[in-house]
Amino acid sequence: MTHPFDVRLEALTAGARSSSCEQTQRPRSAAGRTFFIETFGCQMNDHDSEKVAGVLLARGYRPVDSPDAAQVIFYNTCSIREKAAQKVFSRLGQFKAGQDAGKVIGVLGCVAQQEGEEIFERAPWVSLVCGSASYRKLPELLAQIEEGKRRVTGLDTDTDETFETEVTRRDHPFRAYLTIIEGCDKKCAFCVVPYTRGPERSRSSASVLDEVRRLGDLGYSEVQLLGQTVNSYRDPSPRRVSFAELLDAVGRVPGIRRVRFTTSHPRDFGADIVQAMDANPALAEHVHLPVQSGSTRVLRAMQRTYTREGYLEKIALIRNARRSIGITTDIIVGFPGETEADFEETLSLMDTVQYDGAFSFKYSPRPNTPALHLDDPIPEEEKGRRLAILQERQRQIQTRRNEALVGQVFEVLVEGKSRRENQWAGHTSSNRVLNFSSPAENLLGEYAQVRVTRAGPNSLVGEHVT
Ligand code: 5AD
Repeated sequence: MTHPFDVRLEALTAGARSSSCEQTQRPRSAAGRTFFIETFGCQMNDHDSEKVAGVLLARGYRPVDSPDAAQVIFYNTCSIREKAAQKVFSRLGQFKAGQDAGKVIGVLGCVAQQEGEEIFERAPWVSLVCGSASYRKLPELLAQIEEGKRRVTGLDTDTDETFETEVTRRDHPFRAYLTIIEGCDKKCAFCVVPYTRGPERSRSSASVLDEVRRLGDLGYSEVQLLGQTVNSYRDPSPRRVSFAELLDAVGRVPGIRRVRFTTSHPRDFGADIVQAMDANPALAEHVHLPVQSGSTRVLRAMQRTYTREGYLEKIALIRNARRSIGITTDIIVGFPGETEADFEETLSLMDTVQYDGAFSFKYSPRPNTPALHLDDPIPEEEKGRRLAILQERQRQIQTRRNEALVGQVFEVLVEGKSRRENQWAGHTSSNRVLNFSSPAENLLGEYAQVRVTRAGPNSLVGEHVT
């Protein structure tokens, strides 16, 4: 499932920074060994992989483009839904022979945490299993592997530490991710994250701002602050900077022009965040605020800690802002016990809010979660029916909303160039994809003013205003 605003961009070429990393000392043992990381799941995982790559680079490993060419292969896994979790086992199946070729195969992330040493049973050729709450131990685990140890694990989640690296390999040339809070303490009944990523722990505001300053110096103008519940950020240092104050401070760092943040939990979403967005134009005009359901009864069963009305109050805060802020969401259909009437309430909430984008999913039972034992499961076929209805409704909403933008001019951070001549693509501040024509020689990484000429449900088309 891709985000409705996402399109595949052409390979980034001339002028694009391919990756950046700082220099460090390399221990000899691993020098020249090659690695490949495949990442599944959320942006948090993408960024964890960037940091894991940093750890490997700092030890002297060298990145290669394919698992075939790699001596060390890591899968950074996702277990948010059953399908995502299965993917890694099909990958591991393909690499059975890796053992003979002397390859080191590691499983990282949420499936690693969830399945633990069971992974060695299912795939005996795996030699490293490490959950995200133990990434700090990675250098130590790698050292053991380099010394020839066959099986190493990092499976503790009982930690108050965050994963900070000396070196981070940034894979996106124009948007830099940075984690500000790890783990999750909300106990949503459907969700594995509290069990796979451990308790909530925030980085100090000083450490976050240092990293943003370094990113500004490296030439990044867009940063995205990450956390499973990013707005639950609590500065552990005596400064006690609030999330809204941190957003503002990040937006004031020299060179930073767009600050994004994801994902927000409605419970911790307050007026101060909207006020910060209104006051500081460097904060991008977009809030991703997962609702999950429009029925208070289902929200209670999901242990979401807010009602339909409470959620709509948060939406009103955003809609009443001076700036026009795009709103996107996540929705689950077919949670146990969801009636037709509950589902209708979700559809009516979508009509009320008029989201600019929505990720929607069929409920998938997950190990360890409270919802696993709830009665009244919804048949797969019925979940599929509800999902199709919901997605069609959202498509119509997006089409109408996007059509209303024709004629307006937006600033686009240009991220891609199409094979077709004079065609470029990027995102608006509100995170809409805008494909546009321009005779300019090279726009990659620049901000362009673009007038919208046509609109579809998932993207806009326009022309460069010069
Ligand atoms: N089944 C279906 N969707 C889920 N999500 C999280 N857990 C599940 C599950 N068990 C969805 C939620 C969340 C998004 C990242 O994934 O909508 O916001």
